[in-house]
Amino acid sequence: MTDKLTLGVLGLGEGRSIISACLQSEMWELGNICDINEEMCRERAEEFGLTKYTTSYQDMLRDPEIDVIGIYTPDQLHAAHIKLALEAGKHVICTKPLIVDLSQAKELLEVQKRTGKAVFVGQSSRYFEPMVRQRQDYLAGKHGELVTIETHYISDSRWFLQKSWSHQSGFSWLYNFMNHAVDLAAWYLPDVEEVYAVGVVSANTKEWKLTVPDTIKAVLKSTSGICASAAGVYAAPTLGSAVEQSISCTLRGTKGISRAGYPKLQYYTNFPPVKKTAELHTYDEMHGYYFRFEAETHHAGEYQNYIEEFASCLFQGKTPKPDLEEGIRTIAVLEAIDESMRTGKVVKVDEVLAKYLG
Ligand SMILES: NC(=O)c1ccc[n+]([C@@H]2O[C@H](COP(=O)([O-])OP(=O)(O)OC[C@H]3O[C@@H](n4cnc5c(N)ncnc54)[C@H](O)[C@@H]3O)[C@@H](O)[C@H]2O)c1
Repeated sequence: MTDKLTLGVLGLGEGRSIISACLQSEMWELGNICDINEEMCRERAEEFGLTKYTTSYQDMLRDPEIDVIGIYTPDQLHAAHIKLALEAGKHVICTKPLIVDLSQAKELLEVQKRTGKAVFVGQSSRYFEPMVRQRQDYLAGKHGELVTIETHYISDSRWFLQKSWSHQSGFSWLYNFMNHAVDLAAWYLPDVEEVYAVGVVSANTKEWKLTVPDTIKAVLKSTSGICASAAGVYAAPTLGSAVEQSISCTLRGTKGISRAGYPKLQYYTNFPPVKKTAELHTYDEMHGYYFRFEAETHHAGEYQNYIEEFASCLFQGKTPKPDLEEGIRTIAVLEAIDESMRTGKVVKVDEVLAKYLG
């Protein structure tokens, strides 16, 4: 392998962000871009000054120059697109949610093992500056032992229901949106053992003739007895990010506490010597790196962070994380939340996994 990786991008809506990340990274080359919608291909080629594109995934997969496929197609298509990329001998970076149920998890694990290619899950929230700093502080032991974790992803995302695939089987606010909050909690509690959750389908979601819960509160308990709460509200007005960040992750430890959020480049800490008021760290100088397009949409900065980490890992012979196995475990936690919302019972994550992986 050379000292650069070549990327093929599939799905050019949010795929726009990884094109930008790739073009600005010294570790990557852009091989080709692909979308079934030719107008979208033309738009992106023009936006980034590219000389080629394809509407055929198979064409892109046949290109021997391409090492890695970045998958940004609708959630329900990820499993099939990952499998095709692996079978074509390509590494995979797949956006969240990795998959929308566990029915193909076993097969994906088998294909990944047989082909020996890396599958990395693009959990973008882990790669936003405040979350990166929070993780560094956690690993440095500044929180002491974890006592509890609170995460949320709260946004008025009714605009999302204009996308046709949000009305197709497999779409849910839980998998598409709350995934961020659950993944952050599971990142710190990789041993989530059981889950209890309540979900509500509000009148606002029913207006769109959907029956998926848009308001979700979940409690996750680890084998070591630590609990986390994760919450999501997607079809009601919000206070706005100046008052309440869309995504938030609070780590409460025996020695200290921190709160990282999105989309504000702000991070609060209170580490020893603990004071009455937390310290605020801001990263405003990185605004242009994280937010490259109109308004504060898209995730080019987070994607550049994760593709560079992916490349470093591959060059050093390490497995880029979260990998397929970790991604599947997070999906199992989501599936446990889903089952708990439907049955009103506490659900064990290992039992969910056993049902699908045997
Ligand atoms: N924070 C994040 O990481 C983040 C943010 C936004 C979206 N996403 C994820 O990105 C994915 C795409 O979301 P989006 O908002 O861009 O959706 P979108 O509907 O705007 O774009 C999807 C694109 O995929 C194309 N497409 C559909 N089927 C295809 C196929 N078979 N082959 C090739 N192209 C195909 C469509 O034409 C469209 O251009 C979703 O899985 C979503 O969850 C992740």
